Order: sequence, then C-alpha cells, then structure tokens
Amino acid sequence: MIEPILEVKNLVKYYSDHPVLEGVSFRIFEGETKIIIGASGSGKSTILKLIMGLEHPDDGQIFIEGQDITALNESQMVRIRQKIGMVFQESALFDSMTVRENVAFRLYEDGVVEEQIEQRVRESLRFVGLEDAIDKMPSELSGGMRRRVSLARALISRPGIMLYDEPTAGLDPVTSKRINELIIALRDLQNVTGIFVTHRMRDAFTLASRYATNGNGLQFHAESGELCIANTRFLMLRDGKMIFEGPDEILRQSDDPYIKKFLE
Ligand SMILES: Nc1ncnc2c1ncn2[C@@H]1O[C@H](COP(=O)(O)OP(=O)(O)OP(=O)(O)O)[C@@H](O)[C@H]1O
Ligand SMILES: [Mg+2]
Repeated sequence: MIEPILEVKNLVKYYSDHPVLEGVSFRIFEGETKIIIGASGSGKSTILKLIMGLEHPDDGQIFIEGQDITALNESQMVRIRQKIGMVFQESALFDSMTVRENVAFRLYEDGVVEEQIEQRVRESLRFVGLEDAIDKMPSELSGGMRRRVSLARALISRPGIMLYDEPTAGLDPVTSKRINELIIALRDLQNVTGIFVTHRMRDAFTLASRYATNGNGLQFHAESGELCIANTRFLMLRDGKMIFEGPDEILRQSDDPYIKKFLE
C-alpha cells in the first residue's frame, strides 16, 4: 500500500470561539498537487499554517510522511519544516537583507558551508530567472520579483513538499503564468508534492490542465467516467467544511449552485 506524503484527518480549528475549520480531511500522495479553493476567510491559509506547525489544531491530526506532527514540540517541528517549503501570501522577505541572504537563510540555519551556499543560492535564483538580482534589496524589486525570490527561498533546501499560498495574487498575467509554470515543473519534473491555495480560478485551472513532460508521457486515470490527469485535484472549502474534492473535470460539472457561482 502506498502511504500518503501528507494526510490531514478531521482537522478542527477555532479562533476564540469562531470555528474556522470544522473537520477537514484529505490525503496527498507523492508528486500530487492539491489545489485548495474557497472564498476569502474560508480557512485556506489556516490549513497551511497548521501543516507548517505555525498554528495548532484544536482537534484532528496531521501526518507528514506517516508521522503525526500534532504532538511534536518546537525543536522536533524544526526538523519537519526542513521537508517543507512555503511561499507565503505576502512574500514575507526580510527587508534588511539582500536577495542572496534572504534565499540563503535556511542554509545558514542548517549550517551548510559557505561555498555550497553561494552555489545553491545561484541555482535557486536561476530556476526562478532572477540570478541577476542576487545583490539587490527587496525594496528594489517589483511585487512579481519578490514573489519569485520567495519561491527561490522556499526551494533552497530542495523540499519534497511545497505549500503555495496565493503565489500569484496581485501579479500581472505574464508573471503569474511564469510562476504557475515553475510550480508545474516542480510537480511534474521533480515530483514535488504540493498544496496550491488560490481564489483565482484561472490559475487553478491552468495548474490542473497543463503539464510539463520529460518524455515519459502523462499519467491519466478514470474517475466518474472522465479521463483525468492523475496528479492534480481540487478541494473546495466553504465555512470551514469541504464541499468538494476531486479533479477539475468533475468540479466543472458540479450542479451545486455555490460552486457554479464560484467558478463563473
Ligand atoms: N491569527 C488569527 N486570529 C484570529 N482569527 C484569525 C487568525 N487567522 C485567521 N483568522 C480568521 O480565520 C478565518 C480564516 O482565515 P484564513 O486566513 O485561513 O482565510 P483564507 O481562506 O486564507 O482567506 P483569504 O483568501 O482572504 O486569504 C478568517 O475568518 C480569519 O479572520
Ligand atoms: Mg489566505
């Protein structure tokens, strides 16, 4: 039996007495991307923060590579976080550090030697097309460049799991396309397992319908009579509950009035 890389079981989260998540469960297998959609305030970012251990659930469990992380202390959680890269909703770069220092941050924390750091920072920046910006300060960059630096920073430790929180929000179509292509390449060519949070359906459907190939062809499977790409599925949240889980082909056919309106 194949184990999921990431599993969330009956996750419950309250802020004061306001329920944000009321029993959310899903599994993600290696190389798969889960696209989480839902209105503003539906709990999308909260799920990512719980997985990173930045917030704690009131009930339920989170398993990463089979390990229950909900019981771990902070120093154990640091080890788990090394497996995960996160692109935050607000880029969240350190303003007083150069691009080089921002991207290298995690390597310094991990005690990687200096020569390797420079090489890996350049490699990561090259992947997002920003090697030339290595000596710049975040304030000298555009919003789209900052988001790409944030992506390079998340990728520096070559994590097997990537969490993207609205990575294209507020960006122009060309930059958004570029970021989506990078995410697709990580998924299809490097087998990175991911969660992509967005309320932009265009980006969501781009991710669900485009693939990067290395010549090995694509994997499809049949689901409810449709042939679907195997590695990308949707999860839709509404008021702390999951109201849909499945591939885009099935999502688009939904008769649910709320879902239909959301997809318009
Ligand atoms: N630290 C916090 N303290 C109190 N309430 C919070 C906190 N973080 C989030 N919330 C509340 O939890 C709910 C879900 O927030 P969350 O950020 O997960 O939504 P979201 O789906 O990511 O929304 P958006 O699309 O706007 O980013 C909101 O009602 C929000 O006000
Ligand atoms: Mg959010």
